[in-house]
Amino acid sequence: MNTTLKHGPDPEDAALRVTEVTKTFQVGRSASGNNRLRALDGVSLTIGRGETLGLVGESGCGKSTLARTLMLLEKPDSGTVDFEGRDPFALRGKDLLSWRRRVQMVFQDPFASLNARMTAGQIIAEPWATHRGLYKTSREREARLNELLQLVGLRPSDARKSPQEFSGGQRQRIGIARALALNPDLIILDEPVSALDLSVQAQVLNLLNDLQQKLGVSYLFISHDLSVVRHVTDRVAVMYLGRVIETGDTEDVFERPLHPYTASLMSASPRLDPAARPAERIVLRGELPSPVDPPSGCRFRTRCWKAQDICAEQAPPRVTAADAGRVALPLPSIGEPTLHAAECHFPLADRAEAGLAASATGA
Ligand SMILES: Nc1ncnc2c1ncn2[C@@H]1O[C@H](COP(=O)(O)OP(=O)(O)O)[C@@H](O)[C@H]1O
Ligand code: SF4
Ligand SMILES: [Mg+2]
Repeated sequence: MNTTLKHGPDPEDAALRVTEVTKTFQVGRSASGNNRLRALDGVSLTIGRGETLGLVGESGCGKSTLARTLMLLEKPDSGTVDFEGRDPFALRGKDLLSWRRRVQMVFQDPFASLNARMTAGQIIAEPWATHRGLYKTSREREARLNELLQLVGLRPSDARKSPQEFSGGQRQRIGIARALALNPDLIILDEPVSALDLSVQAQVLNLLNDLQQKLGVSYLFISHDLSVVRHVTDRVAVMYLGRVIETGDTEDVFERPLHPYTASLMSASPRLDPAARPAERIVLRGELPSPVDPPSGCRFRTRCWKAQDICAEQAPPRVTAADAGRVALPLPSIGEPTLHAAECHFPLADRAEAGLAASATGA
């Protein structure tokens, strides 16, 4: 094992590895004649066992398309997904069922995502109808249902209530219990607390953390809320227009963003921590370009204040799946090699250039 690793999966041991995944959708022809929207354009990332990877980026950058791809709801045009040595898109029959069991999802809106005509108990137990072998007798299923309700902080009697009888936070607990019903190895959480009040968000985040400690489950945590991501993730991947443009250990990325886009996201995000507050707010120029006609070279160049001619001519070196696991980019200001890579010809040199105030630690 690479001893320079602080956190992050060893690529040999990553639970999930996504390599150069591209997904396009057919849309109406643009002025330039293109009719394919590039929702994912060569995305690479890894998620380790028991790890939380944050996925951040503006609305429309492809986060949910990636989540849907990992749930096998979208088939990539190209690229590979590897889950513990197997390609889920090549699996059939029992093997496919087993993969579906191991990767589960919790949705953003606990009001829309639960069937109002079912009881909480029926909702949580529904996946067992497809995966019949898991709990064979009704006694086993009832015991497991009670255990799941308890795990997420609900009472056995709650099983008989309908979703409308619960608050938003409680509904999200039901969604989490449902995702846990099949003992998954990876849970994809697509904006899991965005629809909840702040105080309830903290409870649900603590619950997710406790469950991870107890069960060792991995999370892909998708959120536009950077303060939440900083709080709950081990590593983070930043997406822009269908690509991961920066990835690294969460603290490193937040303390020392390398990509101008990451710095601008942080600059726009409200913070409680004064040390992390931007010295000067970076305001992005222009609109988000269309994923039907992404800019040549670096796709952030139309909004980047550091752009040079080369940025339009040549795409910067890609963040690869191997980087996502273990690239050691020596950053003198951090003092030790760190898992941190960014797709940029001219990465930011220090915190000041990233628009951040000097850190309390002097890094
Ligand atoms: N089924 C689809 N057909 C056409 N375009 C789609 C489809 N699904 C997503 N898109 C487009 O793909 C891009 C990425 O969308 P999405 O993955 O939902 O982004 P995010 O979750 O980051 O907001 C957007 O431009 C969106 O409009
Ligand atoms: S490659 Fe050029 S345009 Fe792209 S982020 Fe870096 S400096 Fe900006
Ligand atoms: Mg989304």
